[in-house]
Amino acid sequence: MCFQSISRIFVKLWIHLLRLLRLIILPFWLLLKFIVQKPFAQLDQRYRIKDDFYIIPYFLKNLLCYTIKVKRNKFQYWYLFQKQVEENGDRLIINYPRPLAEKGEYQLETYTYREFNDIVLRLSHVLHFQNGVNPGDHIGVSCTNKPLFLFLLFSLWNIGAIPALLNYNTLGKPLVHSLKIAKVTKVFIDPLASDPMKQTEELINETLPEVQLNYLDEDSLTRDILDFQSPQFLQEDSARSPPGLTDYKPAMFIFTSGTTGLPKSAIMSWRKASFACQLFSHVFHMTNFSTVFTAMPLFHSTAGLLGLCAIISQGGCLAMANKFSATFFWKQVYLTKATHVQYVGEICRYLLQSPVSKYEHMHCAKVAYGNGLRPDIWQKFKRRFNIEVIGEFYAATEAPFATTNYQKGDFAVGACKNYGSIIQWFLSFQHTLVKMDPDDDSIIYRNSKGFCEKPEVGEPGEMIMRIFFPKKPETSFQGYLGNKKETESKVIRNVFRKGDAYYRCGDLFKADNDGLLYFLDRLGDTFRWKSENVSTTEVEDQIMTSNDKQFAQVVVVGVKVPKYEGRAGYAILKLVNHDLSEEEKLNLLNKMLLHLKQELPKYALPIFVKLVNSIQMTDTNKIAKKVYKNEVLPHGTDGKDTIYWLKSYQEYIRLTDEDWNAICSQTIKL
Ligand SMILES: *[C@@H]1O[C@H](CO)[C@@H](O)[C@H](O)[C@H]1NC(C)=O
Ligand SMILES: *[C@@H]1O[C@H](CO)[C@@H](O)[C@H](O)[C@H]1NC(C)=O
Ligand SMILES: *[C@@H]1O[C@H](CO)[C@@H](O)[C@H](O)[C@H]1NC(C)=O
Repeated sequence: MCFQSISRIFVKLWIHLLRLLRLIILPFWLLLKFIVQKPFAQLDQRYRIKDDFYIIPYFLKNLLCYTIKVKRNKFQYWYLFQKQVEENGDRLIINYPRPLAEKGEYQLETYTYREFNDIVLRLSHVLHFQNGVNPGDHIGVSCTNKPLFLFLLFSLWNIGAIPALLNYNTLGKPLVHSLKIAKVTKVFIDPLASDPMKQTEELINETLPEVQLNYLDEDSLTRDILDFQSPQFLQEDSARSPPGLTDYKPAMFIFTSGTTGLPKSAIMSWRKASFACQLFSHVFHMTNFSTVFTAMPLFHSTAGLLGLCAIISQGGCLAMANKFSATFFWKQVYLTKATHVQYVGEICRYLLQSPVSKYEHMHCAKVAYGNGLRPDIWQKFKRRFNIEVIGEFYAATEAPFATTNYQKGDFAVGACKNYGSIIQWFLSFQHTLVKMDPDDDSIIYRNSKGFCEKPEVGEPGEMIMRIFFPKKPETSFQGYLGNKKETESKVIRNVFRKGDAYYRCGDLFKADNDGLLYFLDRLGDTFRWKSENVSTTEVEDQIMTSNDKQFAQVVVVGVKVPKYEGRAGYAILKLVNHDLSEEEKLNLLNKMLLHLKQELPKYALPIFVKLVNSIQMTDTNKIAKKVYKNEVLPHGTDGKDTIYWLKSYQEYIRLTDEDWNAICSQTIKL
């Protein structure tokens, strides 16, 4: 109690101090501005100080508050949520356009913070007393995007259990694997997500007999928890936050696709869920007046953490679509009065390709934020949908940090890290780029002393993030649950001096003169051809810019050709119109070639092209590139594909067996 009041006084003092500082600095600042107005504008343009001053005071204030919360063992998201219930009780927390039977029709379902809190306490009663959920339990949640998801999540947090957000599309072995590595004891299942679970039930019974599956009856459950008569259960703080709990322990488990095909469970710490999300939401200008609309599945960190946790940490409202629909996207944004929309991967491209909807100018969203917006459609997207700001960020689910770019106007288009000089300097201690080995671009270069080096401006390098206590890496990089080897493989040691440790992001970036970072490629997404590096994303971008009316989507990979070093470029193209004649198809390809020849070096031109009806996507709407890594020539895996090839760098023609034999015997040179 005493400590509490002291810390409260301390926070107040700190806030006053910051205000005082601002009071002192501001006149000087204005004076300086008055004296050197023009140089100031130039200085600000050069160093972008104003932007930094939006972030730094907030960061310092929250860091202090957070440190105190950690000391008081009140760092869990639940307490942050409780504070918002107090301060923003009558504001909306959820706005859900529930789909009606008729396609594209919705009924808005809304909850205020206070209503939501009561519902959560009633559901906590059900889960604790009827289902036996206890503090410390790992509980699977298999739920589509709907209010029920949040009810479950917050009830589990109230009880002190740790939610494991299952991907409701997985079934069979990967699902069993997920349950196993997260040590899940009970699963709660949304009716809309029950099919994959039912199909796997037998396997779960067999291999994990202790796991209890609870298929929820949404209608009767909702009736119960909406009923004012139903009992509530608020967990004791001492049970929810037992002594010894640290803020780098998991708030939840989120599954990411692993390299071996089986999911990995990334540990989302309390620090990330509360402190990092609060900072993130401030950077993207979310307040208690904001509504974030997300159509991405909440079981992924993009929507779950950077959507849900971010907006609720500010006392704002989460609007969500049950499923992504390009046709009705803007209608839902309009209906929910969203101020922010989330995107990921190819969603922006889908939206640009869909026909004009009357809602695309009626909505009031000003900010679109997410990750993976390509430079070729960046400005087009803003213009067409009347979006003022793109909030591109870079983050990996398991990485300890994210970089952001709050992009307005024409500056910093395409970047995923954009801060003023002060923050840049500050962050340079946290992450940096390192040079890659000239002979193998998946290996980090080491000089004669065995240390790594930073690349020049414009030169590609992998991003690595500092682990501040190398002896205890889990304090800044929690890694994967129960997978020490996979975790350790992401850590690189003795980087710039002996004993230091960094987390490898596995992505290539380049920096420009202003210190902005641009995402180049996933490592391994480059291939070598004629001893040159070809970036698949770059070729993809150029193909799409060459003809976005006819090409719906493209994926470029490198393909092995007998007797050739490296890999040849191979473009798999999805046409908007599939009913073209052979001649029209060839025309299209050769027109594309004209464009590519102007924009790309010769070695980057795709040697092979295949036209397909659909391109396989991952459930985060990213292209499932892995699927296309091992394409078979000359006629595909089933021997029936029509493939075109680039003859003498002059024109695309159909690849016949004759041509292929000539290529293999090197009578024709590629
Ligand atoms: C929104 O948040 C601000 C700052 O936390 C607070 O002062 C204000 O009262 C809140 N607004 C409403 C309507 O609750
Ligand atoms: C799995 O086990 C549960 C509980 O023991 C049982 O009710 C259910 O019928 C079993 N399912 C299958 C497919 O065997
Ligand atoms: C290919 O990439 C590697 C690693 O980034 C680099 O060191 C090498 O110089 C590049 N090769 C060419 C020909 O650009």
